[in-house]
Amino acid sequence: MAERRLLVLFGSQTGTAQDTAERIGREAKRRHLQCRVEALDSCDVANLIHEPLVVFVCATTGQGDPPDNMKMFWRFLFRKNLPAGSLCQLDYAVLGLGDSSYPKFNFVAKKLHKRLLQLGGNPLLPPRGGVAGGPWVNCGMEVTLLHCSPPHSLPPKYTLHYLPEDSPHPNSDLLQLAAPQAAPCELHPFAARVVSNQRVTAQSHFQDVRLIEFDITGSGITFSAGDVVMIQPQNCPEDVQQFCQLLCLEPHRHFVLEPMEPGTPLPPLLPQPCTIQYLVTHYLDISCVPRRSFFELLAFFSTNELEREKLQEFSSAQGQEELYSYCNRPRRTTLEVLWDFPHTTCAIPADYLLDLIPRIRPRAFSIASSLLAHPERMQILMAVVRYKTCLNKPRRGLCSTWLASLNPEQGDVRVPLWVKKGGMKFPADPATPVIMIGPGTGVAPFRAAIQERVALGQGGNCLFFGCRYKSKDFYCQMEWEELVTKGLLTLFTAFSRDQEEKVYVQHRIQENGRLVWELLSSGNAHVYLAGNAKEMPAAVAKALQLVLQLEGGLSPLEAEEHLTALERSQRFQSETWS
Ligand code: 2AM
Repeated sequence: MAERRLLVLFGSQTGTAQDTAERIGREAKRRHLQCRVEALDSCDVANLIHEPLVVFVCATTGQGDPPDNMKMFWRFLFRKNLPAGSLCQLDYAVLGLGDSSYPKFNFVAKKLHKRLLQLGGNPLLPPRGGVAGGPWVNCGMEVTLLHCSPPHSLPPKYTLHYLPEDSPHPNSDLLQLAAPQAAPCELHPFAARVVSNQRVTAQSHFQDVRLIEFDITGSGITFSAGDVVMIQPQNCPEDVQQFCQLLCLEPHRHFVLEPMEPGTPLPPLLPQPCTIQYLVTHYLDISCVPRRSFFELLAFFSTNELEREKLQEFSSAQGQEELYSYCNRPRRTTLEVLWDFPHTTCAIPADYLLDLIPRIRPRAFSIASSLLAHPERMQILMAVVRYKTCLNKPRRGLCSTWLASLNPEQGDVRVPLWVKKGGMKFPADPATPVIMIGPGTGVAPFRAAIQERVALGQGGNCLFFGCRYKSKDFYCQMEWEELVTKGLLTLFTAFSRDQEEKVYVQHRIQENGRLVWELLSSGNAHVYLAGNAKEMPAAVAKALQLVLQLEGGLSPLEAEEHLTALERSQRFQSETWS
């Protein structure tokens, strides 16, 4: 068979598409196929015309948008001046990843497939889409297998060379991150000092919500209301210690990494040389729920028959339901799984650590302050993620638990961060009134917007805030009340559990329908919604629709269309998360 090469390109927001792409890459390599796996924005798109075979693995984010690491590619691909037959050499397959409950499910993959077809590419498969790990991933594999010989060994991406113990090494430390030349970004975060970390819910309240302030002096960071801060979290020392013990790793040993294939870039943000402790603390996501590829690789190392059988089952197509019950439903972490397979775990060669465990992903938080009100500072309002599953130990969010643990009184505490433009845009003309609906920590971007608009001397701020109890989780109460007194804010609160029956923001919207309608119709107000996505966004949309009907006299259909039109013209924007 003629030697063929394969390029696997991914557009990934949360890492699932990347994981899938890497799995396809590994399978291809096991079959002696020349294969590269890259983020779409890291590849030279102009060279696509020379590629014979490309598998695209893409997620869809937000309202049908491409993930951040394929945005440049997306713009390039949809340029009007690309000639129609320019990709006629290209055999390709598109695998879409997503959640079929979203209306824009797999939008990016479908659009990409159409465009490649338009440019003359030859699809090897109709576009596939589904949930991660589903049978369609195997279809992606089929594409590579068409061009392959049988599986062989599985080389790691990097070899890890320990340095002699007694040679002097620079101390690898996060604080040595070079001060960035340009604006801080993922590859050059700014190590911001934590100024304060204050619990803003009562101790007796079920939820720990923090207002955390960072000093960004000298960072070159600027932001405006609606922007988002990306924070690179780290594992807690106890988990790091346990992991090292389980894998028989010496935390203080230094190593350097060497790519197996020349040209493979070194992992970002890992100093060379680096200690095992640094690698595990800052790089390996040992608290994520492992994916199917993790079990495949683990089975490959296992010398213990019982454990190997179980691992093989978890990596097989038939074992996916069981894997879901074991791992995904209870949100079992990588570290916990390693505990369950002790014989295999201690046989994992250090070379494979970076193949086995994904990188810790940065987390996004809405910025909750304005530079106009707090120069050189940035604040976030964050709920500490903690919940129960069928496992005994409560589940904890990695980033929020780490941030909540930081105590600025214990010295110079730093957090690596950078800013990303947010999806929510506030009116360019601050005289335009805004209606903001933000229950819980959904209020964070609105705090930034209100501070910004108030600093510019603008009223016209109408806020609907909801929480459980006035006395326990009505954070920022004093700030809001001061602004209300000054006539700069109209505030409606819904304390859901201060009375027998539930009262939510959508009820307050309906009760104050007249004002909402006036702001919308004669004031041309913009409407913003942020918060936890379950039933809340749909219920708020319904309440707005009812206001349009009852106060604006529109029919149900007209009201629905009006709301859609507001959305299209960006006069109704929402940012929801789960
Ligand atoms: P609950 O927890 O008492 O149900 C912030 O989390 C606030 O949002 C809480 O008061 C919470 O109320 C409320 N909330 C929960 N579900 C909601 C929904 N479907 N619509 C609006 N608010 C909701």
